[in-house]
Amino acid sequence: MKIVEQIKQPIAYEMELFEQKFLLSMSSKVALLNRITHYIVNRKGKQMRPMFVFLVSKMVSNGEVSERTYRGASVIELIHTATLVHDDVVDDSNRRRGFFSINALWKNKIAVLVGDYLLSKGLLLSIDNNDFDLLKIISIAVREMSEGELLQIEKARQLDITEAVYYEIIRQKTATLIAACCSLGAASVKPESTHVETMRKFGELIGMAFQIKDDLFDYGQEKIGKPTGIDIKEQKMTLPLIYVLNTVSKKDNKWLINSIKNHNKDAKRVKEVIAFVKVHGGLDYAVTKMKAFQEEALKMLEPYPESAYKSSLILMVNYVIDRKK
Ligand code: IPE
Ligand code: IPE
Ligand code: MG
Ligand code: MG
Repeated sequence: MKIVEQIKQPIAYEMELFEQKFLLSMSSKVALLNRITHYIVNRKGKQMRPMFVFLVSKMVSNGEVSERTYRGASVIELIHTATLVHDDVVDDSNRRRGFFSINALWKNKIAVLVGDYLLSKGLLLSIDNNDFDLLKIISIAVREMSEGELLQIEKARQLDITEAVYYEIIRQKTATLIAACCSLGAASVKPESTHVETMRKFGELIGMAFQIKDDLFDYGQEKIGKPTGIDIKEQKMTLPLIYVLNTVSKKDNKWLINSIKNHNKDAKRVKEVIAFVKVHGGLDYAVTKMKAFQEEALKMLEPYPESAYKSSLILMVNYVIDRKK
């Protein structure tokens, strides 16, 4: 059995029902919008966030999920989708999930509006059902994601990013949403329990590993359904590059900075930078750090009694860093 199927086994029923609910949660009377949301649901992603929601919910409650859990999972996937639609505008990226991005097909104007629509549909799904405790968890994640994206742009302009700032960026832009999945999964069935905070921390740690993995993909050539090699073009400094900048000679450092500052749209030069980062151990270093976050995340699961849900979460933690897309 494939690893993803194995992970999904104890939540197969929930994931199936989730997909139906998720589709309904996007519907609109505007024909153009419906065309676009259909396009989106027909090219679904890995759905790792709803998987985290259901697995955590069931792990902390001995197999329980509620309507709140389903709504929470839908809200998070709506918001995740909204941020990807916006992210491809921000990153000027024309591919997503193996096909054209929304901005590539319908232009930026429409992508911005569709992202806003998905975000508002998500928030309203919580509000209309009085899930205010869950809405708070989600809204914090939304705020942090925007801050993280802006911090990334600010640092990209300054070209002086430290490793600590990189971790702060990925914590905000990616880890907080995965943290929200896990704390929301717990809160949906066991509100006000200590699980909510423990699982938030667990999600944050695995979210850090998740984004380091995503940043490593950018240095590879594998087909992952979205462009690779665009981070340097967008002057986005990620861990492999940051490490190399901080460890090479002054001269090499100058060459790197100059390449990113003034030659970032020169495909040949970008390739040279990527090769340089590889040769100087940037990828190896990032892998080590990613594994450290993974280990820390696994530790958070140790106190929980053995169950099929816990086993799947452990597999999921490993999948985050072994995945091929
Ligand atoms: C992509 O997330 C955005 C990041 C935070 C790196 P996923 O890799 O989970 O995207 P999909 O939903 O599977 O396409
Ligand atoms: C992911 O950021 C989007 C958010 C977390 C908001 P990236 O720009 O790093 O991710 P991909 O590689 O395009 O999915
Ligand atoms: Mg981005
Ligand atoms: Mg992007």
